[in-house]
Amino acid sequence: MAQPSRWGTPSVFTTAHRSAGEAFRAFFDMRPDEVDQPVAFSHQLHLEKELVCTDCHEGVERGPVAGLPSVNTCLICHSQIATDRPIIQEITAMQEKGVDLAWRRVYGYTREAHVRFEHAPHIRAGVDCSTCHGDMKQQTVARRVVEMDMAFCVNCHKAKQASNDCLTCHF
Ligand code: HEC
Ligand code: HEC
Ligand code: HEC
Ligand code: HEC
Ligand code: HEC
Repeated sequence: MAQPSRWGTPSVFTTAHRSAGEAFRAFFDMRPDEVDQPVAFSHQLHLEKELVCTDCHEGVERGPVAGLPSVNTCLICHSQIATDRPIIQEITAMQEKGVDLAWRRVYGYTREAHVRFEHAPHIRAGVDCSTCHGDMKQQTVARRVVEMDMAFCVNCHKAKQASNDCLTCHF
């Protein structure tokens, strides 16, 4: 059931989001500006070398989930490139031991919010990654620079005439 008239007064959702979002980030020990990752990865450096998002986030144009790179993905390039760097030697040793990189998530929702999100339709509709994730050329490891609360989603859906039926985004 779409009830677009309720988006005029989003305070109910803002309040709900605040507590749930904060609880989530506290639970995972997340801070918007800083997430410790297993290796010091740099988006900036890779994007300056003209890499594209899909080199590492292979699913983003095809399905719901973008995907985070495994050591195998890193080593598609790094079995040849920068093999003298300590970090590359570290991940090469991980691959040999069959250990993967345990990336910590930056974006995401509580299970209780029952949010359904899909990347592919947004990419098809020409929505740029930066609209939802900020400029990655300015980030080393990803930071949570965009607060994707319900109003953020609903306002754009309204503007672009995409569905605002509850079941578009919730299960
Ligand atoms: C309309 C907003 C939006 C756009 C556009 C968008 N994302 Fe996302 N992205 C999200 C949301 C919301 C999540 C968290 C989803 C979840 O946890 O269910 C997310 C999560 C992710 C994740 C981690 C989880 C996963 O899916 O693997 C990666 C990586 C990612 N996005 C990369 C990208 C890339 C690359 C692009 C552009 C090609 C992009 N995103 C475009 C909203 C967006
Ligand atoms: C599509 C190819 C490609 C993939 C995939 C890739 N890289 Fe790179 N990476 C590069 C290139 C190109 C450079 C620049 C090499 C240079 O400057 O000599 C680089 C540089 C680096 C460096 C060296 C930074 C420095 O000190 O100069 C590190 C560390 C690194 N990558 C880590 C990773 C990790 C971790 C992954 C997997 C999550 C990964 N890379 C995936 C292409 C890739
Ligand atoms: C060379 C590989 C590589 C490329 C290219 C790359 N990423 Fe990433 N991305 C990663 C790695 C590794 C992580 C996990 C560490 C982190 O959070 O920064 C990540 C994490 C992210 C996250 C955080 C997801 C979450 O919820 O934890 C977002 C958002 C993201 N990338 C967006 C992008 C976008 C947009 C592009 C293209 C403009 C891009 N990335 C290009 C390797 C890459
Ligand atoms: C900047 C604009 C924009 C933002 C922000 C945005 N969306 Fe969308 N969304 C769209 C467009 C455009 C479509 C494609 C509609 C189509 O294909 O007809 C879409 C489609 C979708 C679909 C697929 C609908 C279907 O019928 O398959 C889902 C699910 C969705 N959005 C959820 C979300 C969620 C959840 C958020 C917030 C995290 C969000 N969107 C943020 C513009 C946006
Ligand atoms: C375009 C996508 C979208 C649509 C349509 C949408 N929601 Fe949401 N909603 C979200 C997102 C994303 C969140 C999570 C916000 C967060 O946790 O930061 C959310 C959160 C909520 C929450 C708060 C849950 C919590 O405790 O965090 C409620 C309640 C809710 N939505 C109800 C609804 C109802 C009822 C409808 C239909 C009238 C609806 N939503 C339509 C995206 C959407």
